[in-house]
Amino acid sequence: MSRLRSLILLLLLAIFVSPAATQSLRERRQVASPDGTIQLSLNMTDAGEPRYSVTVDGKPFILPSELGFDARGGLNLRDGFHFFSDGTVFFSMDNDWTCPWGVNKQMHQHGNVMMVCMQNSTAQLCLEFQVFNDGFGFRYSVLANHADSIQVTDELTRFRFARDGDAWAITPDYNTYEFLYHKQLLSQMPYAATPMTFRTADGLYGSIHEAALVDFPEMMLYADDDSLCFRAELAEWPDGVKARFNGDGFISPWRTCQIARDAVGLINSSLILNLNEPSKLPGDCGWIRPMKYIGVWWGMHLGIQTWAMDDRHGATTENALRYIDFAADNNIDAVLFEGWNEGWENWGGSQRFDYTRPYADFDVERICRHARERGVAIISHHETGGNIYNYERQLDTAYQWLADHGIHCVKTGYAGGFPDGHSHHGQFAVRHYQRVVETAARYHVMLDVHEPIKPTGLCRTWPNLMTGEGARGMEWNAWSDGNPPEHHEILPFTRLLAGPMDYTPGTFDILFTQSRDLPQRRKWNDQDKGTSRVNTTLAKQLANWVILYSPLQMASDLIENYAGHPAFQFFRDFDPDCDWSSALAGEIGEYVVVVRRAGERYFLAASTNEDARTVSVPLLFLKEGEAYVATIYADAPDADWKSNPTAYTITQQRVVRGDVLTIRMAPGGGQAVLFELIKK
Ligand code: NOJ
Ligand code: CA
Repeated sequence: MSRLRSLILLLLLAIFVSPAATQSLRERRQVASPDGTIQLSLNMTDAGEPRYSVTVDGKPFILPSELGFDARGGLNLRDGFHFFSDGTVFFSMDNDWTCPWGVNKQMHQHGNVMMVCMQNSTAQLCLEFQVFNDGFGFRYSVLANHADSIQVTDELTRFRFARDGDAWAITPDYNTYEFLYHKQLLSQMPYAATPMTFRTADGLYGSIHEAALVDFPEMMLYADDDSLCFRAELAEWPDGVKARFNGDGFISPWRTCQIARDAVGLINSSLILNLNEPSKLPGDCGWIRPMKYIGVWWGMHLGIQTWAMDDRHGATTENALRYIDFAADNNIDAVLFEGWNEGWENWGGSQRFDYTRPYADFDVERICRHARERGVAIISHHETGGNIYNYERQLDTAYQWLADHGIHCVKTGYAGGFPDGHSHHGQFAVRHYQRVVETAARYHVMLDVHEPIKPTGLCRTWPNLMTGEGARGMEWNAWSDGNPPEHHEILPFTRLLAGPMDYTPGTFDILFTQSRDLPQRRKWNDQDKGTSRVNTTLAKQLANWVILYSPLQMASDLIENYAGHPAFQFFRDFDPDCDWSSALAGEIGEYVVVVRRAGERYFLAASTNEDARTVSVPLLFLKEGEAYVATIYADAPDADWKSNPTAYTITQQRVVRGDVLTIRMAPGGGQAVLFELIKK
């Protein structure tokens, strides 16, 4: 409730300070982006229903669309509203802020705000709109007049597109995001999880998502009666209620729409982060830092090791020490251990994992000591199997145990159904995920959340929420038909717009030649019919370390497959702690080119779908007056993801700002380039 109170206070303050010049706009209830290209208007129907609409470059973009909620018990958040006289406030934001990590550490928030308050006989409803040059967002704050509790049964928000176009999305599901994307006309898309990305017929790019999802169910999109209209659908509680609050009121997450003139404009947008609140972790956050990591992990997915303690157990002391040594010798910050704790024998059953009891063959004291001595961080693992009651019961002891062992990073997992009919994406689950983030922060632990609630920019407020899964990652290649080449050229324009992803790129044994015929291999849940493999070239695996941004970036393969491999030098050199990024070129599902700067070095990467492609990239990001050596990891001329995936070349050339790099990529291929200053 304190957030609600402060919002209302802000609103009242703003009413008194807002300049008279906004008076006429106030009557029209319109707000535009700072560059004037995006205009948002709010109107009221005769029945007292608020409607918003948006134009871009003077052309209709979102036609008048519904706002509000349905709720139980006499609370009417649908109609009968009238604007407060003088209840509309305008102000502008133009400020810089910084992140401890992120694609860009220096951020700029430049937007215009319109807050409009209205009331009916049951409630006061304030709508806050923020319009930036890269899109808009709006959220609801509701104050109920006389309610003991609030039960929202539906959200009325609509997105009525003015024009058809192509759209990319995954199927919405209350429990998972691990699907392949499909491309369909907006008019034929039946439903979508967000981010849903689109390109309208007149060439505008956009993506609908949400920001600051802290205490609400997730929003999905369902086509409404009208073919170009999507309605917000909320994940429900087991009894069908969508969201519940005490009688005071609530603030919704932001409903967001990124807008760009080209596809990479979406990647370069900071709308989602800008709509989140500043960090709640002030002071010394030295324990929060980007890291490169390897892990006792891929062996389990390949079926040659196990999580549970048996004769094929992966997380043994011996393996742990070997991985720590490999990390220390190869400039890798951290090692993840899965299957270190008791409970895996009940995975899929009672799901009673114990987060403070290591398996007998995992000598945690010795492993932690060795890691400390070798300067390597440990990433622990908390698989819950979905049994969040069991996890919540142990939360404080589990995180205290991590702190006692000097462990500042944990990967959580929710592979299994939630109890009592709760879904992974309903309000109950969202509250759980948030509780874990706040607990972890108290114990100075960074998080990598698998089977998460989708990211909505909360890492601005809780910078210990580093990364997560929430899409089909590398693991699917081990035991299914895998992720097709184009998956990696869709993710940057969809899922990754929401936030970092722990995709875990970097499998070098693309055809599983080293593991396929091992006697101990058992096909993990039998989905590998013997044809599973990684569907890219090797050079594209390197490129994905740069393109698929994660501040915790994993090299996924078994360390045996990296030892002595010349291309692994790229990961040794790679710095996940970037300062600045720019997506330079790309089209959704076709190709993408991204550059990131970390200190004085630049990492550039490109990748392509099944089509071979040549892209010319002017090196305009390099510093004027400096010369660089570019180390280029490219597809060999005869490389092809299907027939010759591991053929690559490493070459070097001297470059200066303004040179043009010609990037040739094989079908399903990519390229990764490191630029280092030549010291004078
Ligand atoms: C699914 C996660 O995505 C994967 O990384 C993990 O190894 C398994 N669950 C087991 O926790
Ligand atoms: Ca997963």
